Amino acid sequence: MKRIAVFVSGGGTNLQALIDAQGTVLNSGKITLVVANNADAYALERAKKAGIATEVVLKKQCGSQAAFEERLKEVLTAHGIDIIVLAGFMTILTENFTSCYPKRILNVHPSLIPSFCGEGFYGLRVHQAALDYGVKVTGATVHFVNEIPDGGEIIAQKAVYIEDGDTPETLQRRVMEQAEWILLPEAAEKVCKEL
Ligand code: GAR
Repeated sequence: MKRIAVFVSGGGTNLQALIDAQGTVLNSGKITLVVANNADAYALERAKKAGIATEVVLKKQCGSQAAFEERLKEVLTAHGIDIIVLAGFMTILTENFTSCYPKRILNVHPSLIPSFCGEGFYGLRVHQAALDYGVKVTGATVHFVNEIPDGGEIIAQKAVYIEDGDTPETLQRRVMEQAEWILLPEAAEKVCKEL
């Protein structure tokens, strides 16, 4: 059983999908730690309800990006973590961090990479950009994380149709329901199983 840490910043619906998948889809890994970079993240409540250990690591308190990443590494080592899943983690990790965990960090992104991705594309902004461009199909991508934002090897993708009258909010919800919440647990299982 691989030990999984999930990094979160907000609501944590993807974390919830991973928790709910344990014992059904997710059998080769166990979520043993949830790390938030925001003390108010509702995802922390979800973790506590599921009896999962939590840590809050604040960049501001650490003083610099380098110190923030060192603290994250310490926490991961202390918990014996094998795999890291970024599930709505709204801060970029530099090569100092990512190079320590090659093919051990997964991220879920709410578009079909290479569309609408990279620095500045996160959360509702991604869906706003898809609607502004006028694409008819979008989706979600799970990929390995390297030093290039949203640039690591793709593990899985799922397409979702845009509907007339979609707003960023309705589209975000459909992409989550039809793609992210299915794809992320499946990809986590695949990576844990093959490790
Ligand atoms: C999800 O849609 C996730 O794909 C996205 O933020 C949302 C987090 O929701 N991540 C990014 O945009 C990363 N670039 P959640 O907290 O409910 O899982």
